[in-house]
Amino acid sequence: MEDKKIIFSGVQPSGTLTFGNYLGAIKNWVELQKDYRCIYAMMDLHTITVRQTPADIRRRTLEVLALYIACGIDPEENILFIQSHNPAHAELSWVLGCYTYMGELQRMTQFKDKSSRHAENINAGLFTYPVLMAADILLYQADYVPVGKDQMQHIEICRDIAQRFNAIYGDVFKIPEGMLPKAGANIKSLQDPTKKMSKSDSNPKAYISMTDHPDVIVKKIKSAVTDSEGIIEYREDDETKAGINNLITIMSAVTKRNTDDIVADYSGKGYGDFKNDVAEAVVENIRPIQEEYDKLIADKAYLMNVCSKGADAAKRISQRTLKKVYKKVGFMVE
Ligand code: TRP
Repeated sequence: MEDKKIIFSGVQPSGTLTFGNYLGAIKNWVELQKDYRCIYAMMDLHTITVRQTPADIRRRTLEVLALYIACGIDPEENILFIQSHNPAHAELSWVLGCYTYMGELQRMTQFKDKSSRHAENINAGLFTYPVLMAADILLYQADYVPVGKDQMQHIEICRDIAQRFNAIYGDVFKIPEGMLPKAGANIKSLQDPTKKMSKSDSNPKAYISMTDHPDVIVKKIKSAVTDSEGIIEYREDDETKAGINNLITIMSAVTKRNTDDIVADYSGKGYGDFKNDVAEAVVENIRPIQEEYDKLIADKAYLMNVCSKGADAAKRISQRTLKKVYKKVGFMVE
C-alpha cells in the first residue's frame, strides 16, 4: 500500500462533465486505481477566479463527485475531496507565491487567454492560479498528474517552482510528472471538430454532458458537423474529415474496436446510418453510469460523508508537507 506511487488530479466544478472528459480522462483513472494511490479533488478555490453563481458551484461540486463515483472511481480505494475543505492548499499557495516570479506567471497561456476573455475581471487570483495548482500537487508529493494537454504548462511551472524550492531548502517536494491521456480518446467538439470538446463551450450542442438525457445525446450526435463528401473514412491529417474522424474515434472508444474495423463496417453507408449507430452506442455506454449517478445524487448524506472522509485523509497527508515547508522557511512550528 505505502509504496504505491501517488496520482493527484483535480477538476473545476465550473461546468458539467462531458463525455470527452470521461473518455479522455476519468475512464482511464478507473484503471489506475489498481496500481496507484489516487487522490482526486474538486477544485472550487480555482473556480472563483472567474465570476460564478455561488449556488452553481455548490451544485456542481456534488455533481462532479457523484459522477466520479458513478464512473467507477471507488471512494473506499481512493481519496475524493473538496479543495476548500483542506486549508493547506491556500496556505502552501501563499508560501509558493513567494518563490514564483511575475514574469513566469505572465507567460502562462491560460492567463493570457482568460484575461482576454474576461477583460472586465482580470483579478490577482487568475494571475496566481498556477501557484495554487502547484500547491495542490506538491502537498501530496504526487508522482503523476493526469491532465489534458492544455494543463501541461501548469505542470511545468509546478515543477520549476518545486525545483527552485528544493534547490534552496533541500529535498522537500517530489517533482511530479504530467500524465497525458492515451492517444485515441481525444474527443473533439461536435460543432467545431477542430477544437476540443469542452464543458465551457457556449454552445451546448458542441458537447455531450454526462448527465444529458439519452434523447438529447441522440439529437446532439445527429447534428454533429461533418463534411459533404459522404465517405466514412478516418483521415487523421485531413481537416475536412475532422468531424467524421471524431465520430469514428468516439465509436472506437465506446465499442473498444479499432478504427479500421469500424470504417470497414460502414463502407458504402451514409453519415445518417453511422450517426444513428454512434448515438446508440454512446447512449448504451453512458446508461449504467447515469443510473448510478441518479442514485448517488439523490443521496446527499452519502456524498457529504465521502468528501468529509476524503478531506480528513487529504489533511493528514498534506499536513506533513506543509509542516516541513513551514519549518524550512523559518516559521515557528508548534
Ligand atoms: N487547472 C485544472 C483544469 O482546469 C484543474 C486543477 C486545479 C488541477 N488544480 C489541479 C488539475 C491540480 C491537476 C492537478 O483542468
